[in-house]
Amino acid sequence: MSSNPHDDGVVAVKDFQGLARAVVPEHLWNYLSDGAGEQQSLMENELAWQEPWFVPKVMAGLSEVDTSISLLGRTLEHPILFAPTAMAKSYHPEGEAATMRAAVRTSTTYIQSALSGVPLDELGAIASQGSGSWWYQVYLHRDRSLTQSLVESAIAAGAQAVVLTVDSPTLGARDNDRRHDWGQMPDDGIAIHQRVFNPMLDSDFSWKDLEWLRALAADVPVWVKGILRADDAIAALDHGAVGVMVSNHGARNLDTIIPTAVALPRIVDAVASRAPIIVDGGIRRGTDIVRALALGADAVMIGRPYIWALASHGEDGVAYVAEVLRAELAMAMALVGVGSIKDLSTDILWD
Ligand SMILES: Cc1cc2nc3c(=O)[nH]c(=O)nc-3n(C[C@H](O)[C@H](O)[C@H](O)COP(=O)(O)O)c2cc1C
Repeated sequence: MSSNPHDDGVVAVKDFQGLARAVVPEHLWNYLSDGAGEQQSLMENELAWQEPWFVPKVMAGLSEVDTSISLLGRTLEHPILFAPTAMAKSYHPEGEAATMRAAVRTSTTYIQSALSGVPLDELGAIASQGSGSWWYQVYLHRDRSLTQSLVESAIAAGAQAVVLTVDSPTLGARDNDRRHDWGQMPDDGIAIHQRVFNPMLDSDFSWKDLEWLRALAADVPVWVKGILRADDAIAALDHGAVGVMVSNHGARNLDTIIPTAVALPRIVDAVASRAPIIVDGGIRRGTDIVRALALGADAVMIGRPYIWALASHGEDGVAYVAEVLRAELAMAMALVGVGSIKDLSTDILWD
């Protein structure tokens, strides 16, 4: 591979998929790519962003296209975030550090997964070098002191927000992982299920736990990730979340779960302008981003695409993903005739 993904024929983010497949060992490839069960929702996550049709405005007098957004009072150059993905280091020796550097280069927010082996200080130090921002994702462990120490360390290292993932009381039926007996952490051989998920198999979680985390995080905002219902979105906000992330975990846990593009509008209606909404799942193109924003999301996250790019091209690949998506976003905005993100609405969608 060359250092410039374009030289390897990459023009769109899905071009990284084939390149990554060629370099990633099969068991890891399955862990990265597969959805749960028959993988119906994995497919639908992407398909659902293809409609409703755009109905562009013409002669809109656009002097320029501005991809910036304001999120919690902070201006971001574009609305694309890197979603938390476990074990990025398995795909590239510099894993999370390379991703963070790419995020800094492209003014992207990177949400580090709790399931990553990179010292928090290291990522905090990279994040502080530029205008990218670094958030930290956690799960609620039955042993709350583990969650507590992770959150406290991340905040001490400079994480600007905490993301609580609430959609994974257990892993889903990922057939290929089971077929390959995958589930061993690369460093110490302890199965993911044992180390992370089984301690979470506590049916006693409730919104009170969010209040606990909210208090623990003090001034740092707490997002809740994994919301698909309007009532849960409202409950999350009522219990202290600063905003919600509409996500079905990349269709990795529950097959036939609703695609996020389908779930989004009802949550937007319920939340109205009370709090920001971020959505992920199957976003692969600038047009997907425009549709998500037009439907009322404030920003989007991508998961698999930046890991494909990390695997094939390291830091440069991850930066390229952000750049390509941002360029496609600007292109699509110009083509639908809307020059700024705040002006995107369902007006450009056929109903
Ligand atoms: C390999 C992989 C690992 C993931 N690990 C986590 C994780 O540790 N925590 C989390 O909240 N979500 C995790 N996710 C879900 C992503 O944050 C995100 O919701 C999803 O990947 C978005 O869908 P997309 O991959 O279609 O863009 C993971 C996703 C993948 C593909």
